[in-house]
Amino acid sequence: MRAAELLRDGQVIGLPTETVYGLAADGLNPTALARIFEIKQRPLFDPLILHCADAADAFNLAKEIPTAARELAQHFWPGPLTLVLRKMETVPDLATSGLPFVAVRVPVHPVAQTLLRAFRRPLAAPSANRFGRISPTDAQAVWSELGEAVPLVLDGGPCRVGVESTILDLSDNKTLLLRAGGIPIEEIEALIGPVQRSQLLSEKPNAPGQLRHHYAPQKSLYLVDEASKIPSRPDVGWLAFGKMEEQATFSGRVENLSLAADLCEAAANFFRALRSLDEDPRVVTLYAMLLPEEGLGRAINERLKRACR
Ligand code: TXA
Ligand code: MG
Repeated sequence: MRAAELLRDGQVIGLPTETVYGLAADGLNPTALARIFEIKQRPLFDPLILHCADAADAFNLAKEIPTAARELAQHFWPGPLTLVLRKMETVPDLATSGLPFVAVRVPVHPVAQTLLRAFRRPLAAPSANRFGRISPTDAQAVWSELGEAVPLVLDGGPCRVGVESTILDLSDNKTLLLRAGGIPIEEIEALIGPVQRSQLLSEKPNAPGQLRHHYAPQKSLYLVDEASKIPSRPDVGWLAFGKMEEQATFSGRVENLSLAADLCEAAANFFRALRSLDEDPRVVTLYAMLLPEEGLGRAINERLKRACR
């Protein structure tokens, strides 16, 4: 398998997962990890998720595995959930930005699974966009974002979930939500009880991955609370959700995340729609409204708030 050979050689490739496309490299090879940071232009204080074929492999990278971690793994792995645990010495410092904690996840995408089983080592894989930009949800978006920098992008079709994994910090007796994502927090709480919310949207990078401006389109995105506040002009792009009267008379360009107001469908379309408006030469300014704050709506809203300025 060419992908596994490239990885063994310390190279970085584009990899489909069910959430978003990743930029994958050997998670135990510090030189390969450094390549990821270089290609993404990502600050070294932002640690990486290690992807494994199954829960046993993932827990091999960690020590002190709480019962809640095992329950969550049994329920949601393989799938869009990442757990932060105290790390084993075998995990390179570059993967965790020097933190004593490692983020692990078992993806369900068949291409990711096949590659992990062939490679037989954990894969570090951040989303395959340049730092702070829109995450790619199909192979074409990876090509346009990073095509010249990687020798191979595996094409696994459009991502089914469309937003990144939910990240839960279970280290040192915590139960802390670090990022809303593909598994709704309600489902997690139903299994393990109340989960603490971290202070999201921080300007300070001391909480990794919580930078205020993330997932940013190049154009300005404005959040409004009513559709009537969106100017109907040809140079306006509207990221809409559900059937809206105003859409019929709107003279700009609309990308509707889900006409049926289905939050899963909206998540699957989110980054593609945002990217498509961002790349449309006729569109100058983007507008959106927050979605219902439930299920995957939370994950989308978190990304919308960070994408706006
Ligand atoms: O769905 C996903 O999680 C995708 C796909 C490719 O698997 N990956 C992804 O990776 O979103 P990335 O690097 O774009 O975001 C991972 C986040 C980062 O914001 C990072 O700060 C956080 O996970 N993270 C990683 N290791 C951590 C750790 N030890 N402690 C706290 N946060 C951590
Ligand atoms: Mg990312």
